[in-house]
Amino acid sequence: MTRPTPTSPSDTTSPRYPGRFDAKVAVVTGGASGIGRAIVARLIDEGGRAVVADVNPAALEAAAAEFGDRIATVRVDVRDEQQVEAMTHAAVERFGGLDLGFNCAGLSARAELTELSRDDWNTVIDICLTGVFLCVKHEARRMRERGGGAIVNIASLNSHVPMFGGSAYACAKAGVEMLSRNAALELAQHRIRVNTVSPGLTDTPLTSGIHQAPGLEQAFMQRIPMARWGTPDEMAAAALFLASADAGYISGSNLFVDGAWETSGYPDLRPFMPR
Ligand SMILES: NC(=O)c1ccc[n+]([C@@H]2O[C@H](COP(=O)([O-])OP(=O)(O)OC[C@H]3O[C@@H](n4cnc5c(N)ncnc54)[C@H](O)[C@@H]3O)[C@@H](O)[C@H]2O)c1
Repeated sequence: MTRPTPTSPSDTTSPRYPGRFDAKVAVVTGGASGIGRAIVARLIDEGGRAVVADVNPAALEAAAAEFGDRIATVRVDVRDEQQVEAMTHAAVERFGGLDLGFNCAGLSARAELTELSRDDWNTVIDICLTGVFLCVKHEARRMRERGGGAIVNIASLNSHVPMFGGSAYACAKAGVEMLSRNAALELAQHRIRVNTVSPGLTDTPLTSGIHQAPGLEQAFMQRIPMARWGTPDEMAAAALFLASADAGYISGSNLFVDGAWETSGYPDLRPFMPR
C-alpha cells in the first residue's frame, strides 16, 4: 500500500474562545501531561480555573510553574477513592465549586492475550476504567450540589477498534464509553451531561515510542486516512466543545477525533510487538 499524502496540518491549532469558560471550575485528571495538559491550557486561556490532578509530582510542579494561581495541583492516583474524593473537594475549597470534569488519566500496556499477566490486566483496568468510574462518581456529587455540570471522559479509538496486544486497554476504553452512556442516563436528572472523546493517534509522551520503532509510524499512517498525527490541542478542542454550552443538548455521545481512522482500523502490529 502506498503512503497517502498527508492533509495540511495548518488547521491543527484551533481558535480560542475568550471568556467561554469564565467562572467555570474544572478538575482535569492526567492534567500534567499530553491531552490533559492541553485541556488545562485551553481552559485557562478561555477564562476557566482548574484543579490539575496527576500521579506524577514533577509534572505537577511544572504545571504549577506554567499556569500559576489559575490552577491548583493535587497529587492523585485515580485508583484511590479517598484521593479522588479529596480532589473534588479541592475544587470546592480552592475555587468555590465544581462545574466540569475531564477524566484523562490513563496508560497503555501491550501484551498478547496469551501472555498478559493478571497483574497487568488489573493495572490497566484499574487506572483506565475503574479510575474513571471513581472520578465520575465524585465529580457528579459535587456538581449535583451546584445544580449541574458537564463531564468528558477520554476513551480511545480502541473503544471501538481492537489493537493487537491491547486487549486490556481496548476493554477498558470500551468500558469508558458504556460508563459514560450509563452516567449520562442517570445524571441527566441532575442537569449533568456526560460524554466521551475517543482520540486517534495523538502526539504525546504516551505515544513517543512510535517515533522510534523503525517502520511503525509508517504502518500507522497507512491506516489513518488523514495520514497525520492528531495534536493534544485538537483533542482539547473537542473535549472543550463537549463541555461548553454549545453542546447543551449532547449527552451520552462518543466523539471520535481520529482523522477518519475509525473507518479503516488498526495496522497489523504483530511485527512491532515487544520481545
Ligand atoms: N496519545 C494517544 O495517541 C491517545 C490515543 C487514544 C487515547 N488516549 C488516552 O488519552 C488519555 C491521555 O493520554 P496522553 O496521550 O495524554 O498520555 P500522557 O502519558 O501524556 O498523559 C497521561 C497522564 O496520566 C497520568 N496518570 C497515569 N496514571 C495515573 C493514575 N493512576 N492516576 C493519576 N494520573 C495518572 C500520567 O502521570 C500522565 O500525566 C489517556 O487516557 C489515553 O489512554 C491517548
